[in-house]
Amino acid sequence: MSCATESHAYVIFGATGNLAKIKLLPALYQLHCLGYLAPGVKILGCGRTPHERDGWRDEVRKILSDAGTGTGSCLEGFVERLDYLIGSLQDAAFYQALGNWIGTGECARNVIFYLSLSPGLYVPVTVGLAQAGLLVESNGWRRVVVEKPFGHDLQSARHLQHALNTHLEEEQIYRIDHYVGKESVQNLLVLRFANMILEPLWNRHYIDHVQITHAETVGLEGRASYYDGHGGATRDMIQSHLLQVLALLAMEPPVSLEAESLRDEKVKVLRSIRPVDITQLAGHAVRAQYAGYHQEAGISPGSHTETYAALKLYIDNWRWRDVPFYLRTGKRLKERRSMVAVRFREPPMQLFQGTGAATVHPNWLLIGIQPDDVVRLEISAKVPGVETRTRQISMDASVGNPGERKADAYEDLLLDVIEGNRSLFLRYDEVKAAWSVVDPVMQAWAEDEHPPLQYPVGSWGPKAASQLFGKAGQEWRQSLSCNGEADVAG
Ligand code: BG6
Repeated sequence: MSCATESHAYVIFGATGNLAKIKLLPALYQLHCLGYLAPGVKILGCGRTPHERDGWRDEVRKILSDAGTGTGSCLEGFVERLDYLIGSLQDAAFYQALGNWIGTGECARNVIFYLSLSPGLYVPVTVGLAQAGLLVESNGWRRVVVEKPFGHDLQSARHLQHALNTHLEEEQIYRIDHYVGKESVQNLLVLRFANMILEPLWNRHYIDHVQITHAETVGLEGRASYYDGHGGATRDMIQSHLLQVLALLAMEPPVSLEAESLRDEKVKVLRSIRPVDITQLAGHAVRAQYAGYHQEAGISPGSHTETYAALKLYIDNWRWRDVPFYLRTGKRLKERRSMVAVRFREPPMQLFQGTGAATVHPNWLLIGIQPDDVVRLEISAKVPGVETRTRQISMDASVGNPGERKADAYEDLLLDVIEGNRSLFLRYDEVKAAWSVVDPVMQAWAEDEHPPLQYPVGSWGPKAASQLFGKAGQEWRQSLSCNGEADVAG
């Protein structure tokens, strides 16, 4: 078989790990079934677990059929693409064997190396690939995908970048943030820039504040050593995912959707974030741990790692000056819900006060990220009848139509790597700017001898997080629904 231009090898390091099993292989499988993979594309799993090629194919067959997605000829066609290479990532012989596999395959020119590995292995693997000459592009491309977190603070991110740059051009590095690949997160760009009605209101004159929530019911899911050692809610979620959402919400219109234009605008936002006032930390940042965290397997005694974090941030630019952006995330909370809530300012005069409708609710624009992919605008309206009573009503739109399939974020992102589209991947300066935002907060927490606050499992987190608002009547939006009750009888 000859190698079509778009044919390539997809090499997955850490192929027997969780991410590969639950995200990467299923995403590649979907791309195969949807016809996005050229006939010559081969997928090589690399790992330490011994597998013969057939055994590996059986295992993947099982993963996909257990997930309920893999069936029939599509599945058989997909497993035909699979191969497996066992080896130690510290061993030069492994890279020689990998080189032989690539060299004799159909798609030697174009190769994607997906590092689904613990971050400490990014550099040794890149060095191993480089020493074996596998990163040299000749008549094709070589791309390296690295998962978040990119470093564990600003300094380590710098070191990592330096080490990667020694062997790779920036264009070869794909820093993945799967959150940006979510359909509902990509939809933020469409909502903002394909509609004219929002733009005139999208600024400090009309918006009171913005909330970004990522709430999870799950706990550590077997990742205690990563989470307790290098994670915590701020590193794991805010530095990457939530700051990306903030950047998409707050950025200026890009010149085009081309990668550099988008990233230029995002990085401007991240760089404009006002440094958190560490002397007044409690008014800007809250950390907490769910009750029972220390009893989880693999957690170091007395660990202060936060499983909940909330930040109040300001963007010091023309559009957003003095508009607070509230970000929060936590594990083992009451609901699995990610959403953006934009609260508009109140009208300059409460015309309806004299009629007895003492409270006029502000307008809210709610954008569900997951599980509901909806857009909801809350407005006040008159309750039918002779009296003047107002209540909140909502204008709802579900983003998808019944029967439409929602692509998983990884499908989109893995296809973008194949197509060389870096728009949804993070540029190093974005990563750096994001670390600059959270580093001082994490540093202050690290130096604080007091343990984090505690919150009960199944709650919405610590009460102290509400104090970030500091304005009467302002609170976190917990849900997408408004109650529809009339406020005050006239
Ligand atoms: C990952 C974090 O990046 O994102 C996890 O490491 C978190 O801790 C996950 O659970 C949340 O993303 P999603 O897509 O599962 O909601």
